[in-house]
Amino acid sequence: MKIVNYDKRYEDSWLRCRLLAYFYSAFYEDVETEKPVSNQTSIELVALEGDQVIGLLDMIVDDESNKLTFLRSEKGAFIQTIAVHPDYQKQGIAQKLYDEAMERLRTYEYVQFIELYTRDDQAANTFYEKQGFEKTVSYFDVFGVEKGIRKPVSVKPGNGEVIAESGGERVGFALVDSVYEVFDEESLAEIDHDRAVPVYGYVKTL
Ligand SMILES: CC(C)(COP(=O)(O)OP(=O)(O)OC[C@H]1O[C@@H](n2cnc3c(N)ncnc32)[C@H](O)[C@@H]1OP(=O)(O)O)[C@@H](O)C(=O)NCCC(=O)NCCS
Repeated sequence: MKIVNYDKRYEDSWLRCRLLAYFYSAFYEDVETEKPVSNQTSIELVALEGDQVIGLLDMIVDDESNKLTFLRSEKGAFIQTIAVHPDYQKQGIAQKLYDEAMERLRTYEYVQFIELYTRDDQAANTFYEKQGFEKTVSYFDVFGVEKGIRKPVSVKPGNGEVIAESGGERVGFALVDSVYEVFDEESLAEIDHDRAVPVYGYVKTL
């Protein structure tokens, strides 16, 4: 195993490693399909076994262009991601990535502190506490929808189409478990979204 700087040629392997590591954590829904690129100063490391990424660490360093940290007024560094492929966990790889990042961070003498956010995974919390991090703030990531926004919608099969109604009126979309089902192109424009995935229903007539 060796630790090197991230390079674009590792992107697919980087994404797979992150996906698998996050799959077994409280971040399981947090999927990246492209490696996030920062235009700020950063330390981006990968642990390689052959040319397969088995661990990764991304740290963004506050610089003249931007300050990403906000828990203290001084300049700091922000750990964006640490992940180790599940088949290689508990072998000291995260520790080695972290130690290497700390070594490189020394170059930036003005950096006063490191900030990061994680969820309630024991592995990550124990890891950070072991490095001397202290819990400073706490909040919740909540996946839902504000009360009062959801309309009661009933969906029924029409003649070759889906008919959605609310209060006796036909509607173009329904919010189902925090995901909108949109029934026509016009209604798509009514929804603020960054992803629209086609869904196809099939019928087999016997
Ligand atoms: C957190 C994570 C990166 C640790 O990677 P790792 O390579 O297995 O960690 P290491 O083997 O270097 O362990 C270093 C220390 O972390 C702690 N630790 C790691 N895994 C742990 C676990 N499953 N339970 C409790 N503590 C754990 C221990 O203190 C360990 O030191 P020790 O071996 O002397 O007890 C890994 O579990 C992971 O990828 N988790 C999913 C992604 C994630 O939650 N990332 C953090 C959010 S950004």
